[in-house]
Amino acid sequence: MSLDPQQEINRRRTFAIISHPDAGKTTITEKLLLFGGAIQMAGAVRGRSKDRSTTSDFLKVEQERGISVSSAVMSFDYKDRAVNLLDTPGHEDFSEDTYRVLTAVDSALMVLDAAKGVEARTQALMDVCRLRTTPVVSFANKLDREALDPFELMENVEEKLNISCIPFTWPIGMGRTFEGVYDLLNKRVVFYQAAARGKANKQVYIDDLYDGTLDDHIGKEKADTLRDELELLGALDPFDPEAFARGEQTPFFFGSAINNFGVQELLDAFVEIAPKPQARDTLTRTVEPDEENFTGFVFKIQANLDKAHHDRMAFVRITSGRYQRRMKLRHVRLGRDFTVNNATTFLAQDRVVTEEAFAGDIIGLHTHSGLKVGDTLTQGEQLKFTGIPAFAPELFRRARLLDPMKSKSLVKGLEQLSEEGAAQFFRPLDGSDYILGALGDLQFDVIRSRLEVEYKVRAIFEPVSLGAARWITAEDPLVLEKFKRENRHRLYLDIAGNLAYLVQSQWALDYAAEQNPDLKFLSTMEI
Ligand code: G4P
Repeated sequence: MSLDPQQEINRRRTFAIISHPDAGKTTITEKLLLFGGAIQMAGAVRGRSKDRSTTSDFLKVEQERGISVSSAVMSFDYKDRAVNLLDTPGHEDFSEDTYRVLTAVDSALMVLDAAKGVEARTQALMDVCRLRTTPVVSFANKLDREALDPFELMENVEEKLNISCIPFTWPIGMGRTFEGVYDLLNKRVVFYQAAARGKANKQVYIDDLYDGTLDDHIGKEKADTLRDELELLGALDPFDPEAFARGEQTPFFFGSAINNFGVQELLDAFVEIAPKPQARDTLTRTVEPDEENFTGFVFKIQANLDKAHHDRMAFVRITSGRYQRRMKLRHVRLGRDFTVNNATTFLAQDRVVTEEAFAGDIIGLHTHSGLKVGDTLTQGEQLKFTGIPAFAPELFRRARLLDPMKSKSLVKGLEQLSEEGAAQFFRPLDGSDYILGALGDLQFDVIRSRLEVEYKVRAIFEPVSLGAARWITAEDPLVLEKFKRENRHRLYLDIAGNLAYLVQSQWALDYAAEQNPDLKFLSTMEI
């Protein structure tokens, strides 16, 4: 029996978790998977946050993928919803990768350490969500420890992130006096037990806050405090789904992920309020998820999912219609059709061959078909999804081979790794320096290690006196030609053949832009 596409699309919820390192992203991911029945045991998701402080540890962790392999996407069913949880790289050096993952979701879950409030990386990731108006749900974690006063915490979020917090649950005490949360939606107190490990916490429904039931359960003093606080909350704006969709309101939850507390309330509400698959823009038109024909785009390429075969997998977000096994897809950039026999669906710990998938889902395709990040797939229509940019790099290195005989392998490696978005590779118009550009230092380490392991090329990346880059375009080709003639030694081509201008400093860049008002100096480039 074939599934009804409309129904299937409507029940999908595709989201990512954003947080500052250590706030509890890994822990909450694990609890969500437990509730979704996708894993049976706590501890199955390895804490990739461990050892991230040093490069070598980080690389080792990256290489020993374990479950993190399939955790790039984790799909599970929960209460008749099909949930797709996308993993975002934890380390800030991979922010470009994170940005691309966030182009493939319809909402985000922001996890905060309740003692720390908004931290640097939370802020940066929220800025990214803003660029595409992604709705955000918030979870204040670690209430089992001393934390900021909940009002103070919400104020901190509102001030730093310019978004209104709408409490869906409210904490009763914190740290050693943490009693539980009041669930404002369901009007009940949910009592806290440390390390409940999947067991249900005791719940008491409170229809009337003043009839003594509340006092019987948490004592008069705490009941008074809660009543006072709830009264104050009553003065806040009510939840408005449209304001949430516009990124102006964030539903706010409190709990303790490690103790599996408050997470179920979060997940129950999340699958209800988080948006179903949303429309996406292309160069020519907007694609609605319930269109009949399949469309999708590649937002990520991951290598070495299977260590035995140095394979590379393209992660495709389906933007409309339905995928069925053995269907023919058009690779729009190459203008080529190919039949897909073995797309992959990612469960929490398993990968299975996809028989059927719908808008909102993520499927993995082998990259033999020449897929790279930013590519569009359709059933024949000439479309190009927009909004998947490369960012102008800020760090640069010159790649130098240790074995001069391996020059071809070096170029091939750098090209492929650049197509994955691991770093950006620039070739000079004149000369033979290969320049790598990145936003984070760790990107160079990953490239060096992967060149060695996968391409058997030993290279070093030397410092080079470059500090800023922009892509260059002009409306008038003559203006561009003149600039090219006069600046050949500073001009490079990126992997897609776009002209880029690399200089030693931001100052030099500003000066060049001032001197050449007819040129465009672009800090992002659609890929
Ligand atoms: P991340 O992925 O966002 O980086 O965070 P992760 O889940 O790895 O959590 C970071 C640390 O915070 C871990 O401690 C984790 O156990 C702890 N943690 C997560 N949720 C809670 C909570 O609700 N309450 C408290 N008190 N701690 C929490 P760790 O010491 O780094 O690791 P571990 O030895 O506990 O595994």
